[in-house]
Amino acid sequence: MSFSARILDWYHDHKRALPWRETKNPYIIWLSEIILQQTRVEQGTPYFFKFVEEYPNVTKFAAAEQESILRLWQGLGYYSRARNMHKAAKQVVDLYDGIFPTHYKDLLSLPGVGEYTAAAIASFAENHAHAVLDGNVFRVLSRYFGIEEPINSTAGKKLFSKLADELLDRVHPGEYNQAMMDFGAMQCKPKNPDCSICPLQVDCVAYGKGLQAELPKKLKGKKSRNRYFHYFVLERDGEVMMSQRPEGDVWTNLFEFPMLETSEMQSHIELQASAAFRDTFGDAQLRPIVGMQKHVLSHQNIYASFYKLENIDTDIAKNSNWNYYLLENLDKLAKHKLISSFVERYF
Ligand code: ADE
Ligand code: SF4
Repeated sequence: MSFSARILDWYHDHKRALPWRETKNPYIIWLSEIILQQTRVEQGTPYFFKFVEEYPNVTKFAAAEQESILRLWQGLGYYSRARNMHKAAKQVVDLYDGIFPTHYKDLLSLPGVGEYTAAAIASFAENHAHAVLDGNVFRVLSRYFGIEEPINSTAGKKLFSKLADELLDRVHPGEYNQAMMDFGAMQCKPKNPDCSICPLQVDCVAYGKGLQAELPKKLKGKKSRNRYFHYFVLERDGEVMMSQRPEGDVWTNLFEFPMLETSEMQSHIELQASAAFRDTFGDAQLRPIVGMQKHVLSHQNIYASFYKLENIDTDIAKNSNWNYYLLENLDKLAKHKLISSFVERYF
């Protein structure tokens, strides 16, 4: 039996019933694929249902306020996905009359849609013959064929993409792609795959040589940078001061408390005495309320501390883009995880 026939056979017996597999609607498939890009199926599924209900078609999605989309996205992380989705939806309305494209090249032109997502939508919606290459597929191919080339090197990307394309079942590309992803997620798992029950075992190079734990190989990315975020909780009768993050940095447009950033760790005493603090808050008194918490993003570690500010000059809010919000309205603002979990515990 060929490689793809064995994969499809396995899929026939083991496929997961996932809600986005019930449809050929490219818009719905796009929603699911963007949500699942950096998110596990269990975490992404409730979001998928919320988005389908709130925005049943791309026209509704395009017409939404970005704030509402970000608020619905809250908790999923990688918020640029949500902003790109909004741009993509508008592009579909403007350039394709609201008819979601299904051709690979058209899909690739949408913000946030890369080779993987374009291949997924084109093959799932209309059986166009494009092979998906995600973490699952890299793992299966590198192990089965015993490929030591790193999956993120230039040569590796070329090699794996050529191989994936050659293996693609051209009669059932959509089903084959889903099968490869499930096979990687459920059978050829990252840790301790159960090779004793695997239908590819007899020909699998990694199994033969005991290399399952070594493959796939990956080049180390650049080192993470440390950032220290100091958040200040300014309250006045039933209201709290919030600020919106700028463009061009993490969490663009999401709400948080007024803050200062330092590149080194600082005690609250040092912070209070610093020029940056005194320029912004004058003689206000700092009182630590939550000690440093580490928040890991893809290329940075963020260490967040929270302080209460007391005896603050009432003019502070006037010369800034900060605004007071009623506590009961905080829930409506799109906030990143550090802030939403603080708000839940503190208020
Ligand atoms: N992860 C990303 N896309 C997926 C899909 N279509 N099915 C299962 N897991 C996925
Ligand atoms: Fe993966 Fe093991 Fe199957 Fe090889 S034998 S494809 S390593 S599960």
